[in-house]
Amino acid sequence: MAHGFPWWRHAVIYQIYIRSFADGNADGTGDVAGIISRLPYLASLGVDGIWINPWYVSPLLDGGYDVADYREIHPLYGDLEQAKRLIREAAKQGLEVLVDLVPNHTSHEHAWFKAALASEPGSPERARYHFLPGRGEHGQLPPNNWKSVFGGSAWTRVPDGEWYLHMFDVSQPDINWANPEVREEFLDIIRYWLDLGAAGFRVDVAHALVKEAEYPDAVDDREAVLTTPDGEGHPLWDRPELHDVVREWRTVLDQYEGKVMVAEAWIPSWTRLALYLRDDEYHQTFAFQLLRSPWEAGTMRGIIADAIVATGAVGSIPTWVLSNHDVVRQVTRYGLSPDVEERAWLLWGDESMLDLGLGTRRARAAALLMLALPGSVYLYQGEELGLPEVHDLPEGVIDDPVWERSGHSEKGRDGCRVPIPWTRTGPSFGFGVDGSWLPQPETWSALSVENQEGDEGSTLELYRSAIRIREERLRGDEDLVWLDLGPDVLAFRRGSGLTCVVNYREESIPLPPGDVVLASEPRDDGFLAGNAAVWLKPI
Ligand code: GLC
Repeated sequence: MAHGFPWWRHAVIYQIYIRSFADGNADGTGDVAGIISRLPYLASLGVDGIWINPWYVSPLLDGGYDVADYREIHPLYGDLEQAKRLIREAAKQGLEVLVDLVPNHTSHEHAWFKAALASEPGSPERARYHFLPGRGEHGQLPPNNWKSVFGGSAWTRVPDGEWYLHMFDVSQPDINWANPEVREEFLDIIRYWLDLGAAGFRVDVAHALVKEAEYPDAVDDREAVLTTPDGEGHPLWDRPELHDVVREWRTVLDQYEGKVMVAEAWIPSWTRLALYLRDDEYHQTFAFQLLRSPWEAGTMRGIIADAIVATGAVGSIPTWVLSNHDVVRQVTRYGLSPDVEERAWLLWGDESMLDLGLGTRRARAAALLMLALPGSVYLYQGEELGLPEVHDLPEGVIDDPVWERSGHSEKGRDGCRVPIPWTRTGPSFGFGVDGSWLPQPETWSALSVENQEGDEGSTLELYRSAIRIREERLRGDEDLVWLDLGPDVLAFRRGSGLTCVVNYREESIPLPPGDVVLASEPRDDGFLAGNAAVWLKPI
């Protein structure tokens, strides 16, 4: 607890998709050694910590969110000794390390699921998952109408006729959180990583976990309901019982110093999301509403204001994020014509609907907006380089299970998971000394770290400056006062006096008085260009 508040409350945390960050052993896949080699880069960004996507033993049928062993590192990524070394080396650079906790489901290769398949219906082995008889005369129909987020039914039948639940891929059986043995096991996993020095956990699909005990049909049986319908009563999502589980976890975290849990809960309602942030539950929940917002001043302002009020009501503060390994990168999102649905667009990728220059300007402005807000921030690797979505990956390399399960009607999330470019040249632009598991576009030479480093106008240096100034001027400052600078302009002053102005218009606007400390576009005396943002300090 430095400066009277816990470190995470105003932190900037950098998300590492390990497979695509840095390859230390020339096999085309990122790994722990790669992360260790890039710790100086992370420290130079000024972030407080990193969150590493699942690095556990896994068949990698859903990018590692199909965990076969929660206590071991995937051999492709390294081993436990290296993971411990990473945590130690990171600490020397002042970086905390968060790991991913995947409690909704295991992999079908997990010892528990193998034991369940080898056991009888009704056995304790099956009771760790959701095994049910089917409906219909011969049990030939799934137990209910629940749909998998990745498409199709959420139930798969096993040879003896029972069905098991999987809210995601068929290889990701859901765990039964009503079973005390399951709860014990996860408390142990949590202690295991905290004892190894992890600073805490990003918790995967935190609004799933507990299912309604009677397994009723869902009224809303659309596919891909990762974002819950508002309100109580859904049999799968955002169940009230899950809060008891979170409280148990929190008790363990509180036995250590400075540990943190951040919830991945796609819940549109602020009041329901705020429940996760109560004193004895999560420290942080991603405010995905901002990530989901179109590029509109009024909408973004409403989201920010609501987030501050809702989290403040439970003594907490928002956690901002514009990007992660599941969503279309913001440069592309903001560059698409407003009437285009981005996931649908990925399928055909008509470039006449995409203005990458505009998307880049807006993404840079959005970064200044987000980094000026009270609360904590998560950055996704490559956003600091201004990487766009790789929308034209050849079908042959697509790895995301969404592609197959949706019957090729959804291209999936590989386009934001392409290995990031470190150098201007080289077979994988410095990602490793050889190739990369997904092909990188040629244009990424110009977006490489090497090409941007030291260039004041680059997106990388913009992020670096913003994080540094945020640290100097905003850490610990939780006040925000809105300023009215007219339509399509969002402006606020922080308690310390720093003012952020974002211009959503195409044309320039006059700036209020103040000295420019940082700008997303070249400075223009007294004016702010369209689709740009600026930070001002009092004269
Ligand atoms: C979360 C992860 C996503 C994964 C899903 C199932 O949403 O972020 O990548 O596919 O959970 O574990």
